[in-house]
Amino acid sequence: GKGEYDHYMRKEIHTQPTALANTIEGRIKDGDVAFEDLPAGSFEDVECVQFVACGTSYHAAMYGGQLVREAGIRTEVLRASEYESTSGPVDENTLAVAVTQSGETADTLDAVRTAADRGARTLAVTNVVGSTAAREADDAVYIRAGPEVGVAATKTYSSQAVTLTLLSQRIAGDVPTATAADDRAAMLEALADLPQQVETVLETSEAEPLAADTIDSESFFFIGNGPAHSVALEGALKFKEITYEHAEGFAAGELKHGPLALVTGKTPVFAVATGDADGKTKTNAIEAKSRGAPIVAVGPDDHPLVDIADAHLSVPDTHPVWTGLLANVQLQLLSYHAATQLDRPIDKPRNLAKSVTVE
Ligand code: M6R
Repeated sequence: GKGEYDHYMRKEIHTQPTALANTIEGRIKDGDVAFEDLPAGSFEDVECVQFVACGTSYHAAMYGGQLVREAGIRTEVLRASEYESTSGPVDENTLAVAVTQSGETADTLDAVRTAADRGARTLAVTNVVGSTAAREADDAVYIRAGPEVGVAATKTYSSQAVTLTLLSQRIAGDVPTATAADDRAAMLEALADLPQQVETVLETSEAEPLAADTIDSESFFFIGNGPAHSVALEGALKFKEITYEHAEGFAAGELKHGPLALVTGKTPVFAVATGDADGKTKTNAIEAKSRGAPIVAVGPDDHPLVDIADAHLSVPDTHPVWTGLLANVQLQLLSYHAATQLDRPIDKPRNLAKSVTVE
């Protein structure tokens, strides 16, 4: 049940520290990533990784996929519903990874079946043991977030993003031509603190008063670059899904290629900052600010974006690979509080289903 919480979504946001602890449990051994049933060497034949997913799971795949790409491995992150028209060549050295919380999303199942027909090896990254994706794929990795009831995916995003980041390091460690990240050890070490840092965000977040201050706006924009781009997309998806307000996420540098025409004093811009590579986000946030838009920096206190922002949703300092997940928790809370203030149904938004089993 919902226990002490008004909504499942709130409960699921607040139980992320436990969900993440379960996701991580036993998966770092001697400074290396260990997955049950997939020992070191499991991915040594992989030459190309294709991630296929929808909605929030697609955003988690973008987050993890970038790290596979950075290791020098050919990587495609594909919207499952567009697999036919966007997939590159597939052969037996292709690993097709279906990222799906439910394991039952028709578009995702269809894409991974197509990849398998073309000769790819398949892997399901899912929350549901015994789901169709888990049964059909050659291998399965479970995100172990626990059951998620709210239609809006929250804790499963966090657990997916962590699992996929770990998977990226396992694959990079196995593929002979891949280059390991210089700071891999620090990255894995910092993960141990993530559940506690999520707790800190939950305890200290000022998303509720900020939602009240900004709720009376025309549109809500979310921007970020690099890993923060996917967090911006996810922030906007969650916001539109449960508030019914118009929200869009953009790669920060794209703002000036069209969307800037919509920017006014009535369009707050949430700028997600995850590390050193956020120069484009700051430049483009300044452009939006000069058109009157209130800017909200979502990131660490010492980040340069904070200096130009009108408001700040703060996250603890960690390795930059995890910062986006903490920023995302702030954006989950923002959506939740905005939707509550607007008296929306929260757990069952209109027109949507938890698991979309039609194409
Ligand atoms: O079960 P899946 O992860 O395959 O679901 C994919 C999407 O339908 C899902 O993430 C959807 O976008 C969420 N309702 C977003 O909160």
